[in-house]
Amino acid sequence: MSKLKIAFGITAFAIFTACYYDNEEYLYGKPGSGNCADTTEYTFSVGVKPILEKYCITCHSNASAASMGGSIKLQDYADVKIKAANGSLLGSISHSGSYSQMPKGREKMNDCNIIVIKKWINEGIPNN
Ligand code: HEC
Repeated sequence: MSKLKIAFGITAFAIFTACYYDNEEYLYGKPGSGNCADTTEYTFSVGVKPILEKYCITCHSNASAASMGGSIKLQDYADVKIKAANGSLLGSISHSGSYSQMPKGREKMNDCNIIVIKKWINEGIPNN
């Protein structure tokens, strides 16, 4: 094989693997990622928290809630549990009922992120 052919082979392989990884991320996007496509069962720490951290925590952290988040905290499990149990968490993210629509001032989250939170609530809001 000539050096040129080997160089071409290596380049083609590099391009192929780059595309492969992009694709894998797209197909198996995780909760909280922009293209979340995976709605399998998730725990609070692996499923719900990354979503809240990406879309909600700027306004609803322990530090920011008073000034930006209507004093509603969504950082610690105990605080999230209260909003999950009283229906306002799911109501606000699914834009249903008379709840304020969240994330405030931004478009609704994609269905996958909403389903992950909904399943977790239906499982009994476990601290897992
Ligand atoms: C830009 C700041 C901001 C972001 C981002 C944001 N919120 Fe809010 N949120 C607020 C404010 C302010 C209120 C108080 C009510 C109002 O002004 O609408 C609120 C209220 C709420 C309420 C109470 C709603 C009700 O009607 O009782 C919940 C639950 C809530 N937010 C959850 C979330 C969730 C979950 C996210 C992320 C998906 C999120 N928020 C993102 C600012 C924000």
